[in-house]
Amino acid sequence: MARALATLMLREEVAPGHYLLHTDCPEVAEASAPGQFVHLRVGDGTDPLLRRPFSVMLAQPATGEVQLLVRAVGRGTEIIATHQAGTRYDLLGPLGNGWGAPAGEANVLLVAGGVGVAPLIFLADHLRSAHPRPYVRALFGGGTQDALVCWTEFAARCEEFTAVTEDGSAGDQGLVTDALAPEIERSRPDMVYACGPDAMLAVVAGICAQAEVPCQVSMEQWMGCGVGACLGCAVPATAGGYVRVCTEGPVFGAEEIDWERMVGP
Ligand SMILES: Cc1cc2nc3c(=O)[nH]c(=O)nc-3n(C[C@H](O)[C@H](O)[C@H](O)COP(=O)(O)OP(=O)(O)OC[C@H]3O[C@@H](n4cnc5c(N)ncnc54)[C@H](O)[C@@H]3O)c2cc1C
Ligand code: FES
Repeated sequence: MARALATLMLREEVAPGHYLLHTDCPEVAEASAPGQFVHLRVGDGTDPLLRRPFSVMLAQPATGEVQLLVRAVGRGTEIIATHQAGTRYDLLGPLGNGWGAPAGEANVLLVAGGVGVAPLIFLADHLRSAHPRPYVRALFGGGTQDALVCWTEFAARCEEFTAVTEDGSAGDQGLVTDALAPEIERSRPDMVYACGPDAMLAVVAGICAQAEVPCQVSMEQWMGCGVGACLGCAVPATAGGYVRVCTEGPVFGAEEIDWERMVGP
């Protein structure tokens, strides 16, 4: 487990309650693979006591910059929302396994819900540099236009991009999962990669299984230690028992997760 210090260079409010942190952290910028996360200590003291996990959204080894996208949902993230340039973060990372490579020529479909876009932006960026002819399609969903955070950064890395909002304020109206089966039918991707709320991932997993298209999901589970010791992040596994999101994940083959025990029938 690597421990590092990151310095906040710039905090941008990119949508209401959503913050893009540009940090200087050469060790993590150098070592991160798409899908990995950092476990950040939010304050200097013991409040909050536990670190908070965030996906690496972009890592630039040449400059040492690491970008994190943070949605303010509670105590820790609301503290981050007040941080000014110069704030120093004690972090562990990069942690977790990261996305697996696609088969074939990287004809892939990315499915993002809200801040689940962060690890998919890094993946799209990586596919563009690692594959000679990637074809990246994306479906990006959220409740409203504001939830499609960093969509321009995402769309810029995709050959085809579709936005879906529940209230119709941007893109097609509905759930991102409504668009998935027709898109798979149309483009037959080699791999579907998805990150977002558990309920979304469960539906994505079901649709991909039905269509016999391989699918990887990145899980955003509440975490304690972040390094495999406390079982706080355990999720039910198809093989029985549980798997730890922090060490066996956060990326899993969709078929590895027991979705019925995870989100109910
Ligand atoms: C691998 C991984 C990557 C993540 N990447 C990002 C990211 O890129 N951007 C981002 O904004 N968030 C991300 N998250 C979620 C983020 O870690 C939590 O939102 C954050 O820890 C909440 O901290 P808090 O102190 O503000 O909220 P708390 O006060 O701890 O909780 C606020 C509310 O959110 C719920 N909650 C807390 N953590 C989670 C969680 N992980 N999933 C669902 N509900 C939760 C709590 O039950 C509570 O209701 C990621 C989580 C994981 C495990
Ligand atoms: S967070 Fe402690 S085992 Fe995963």
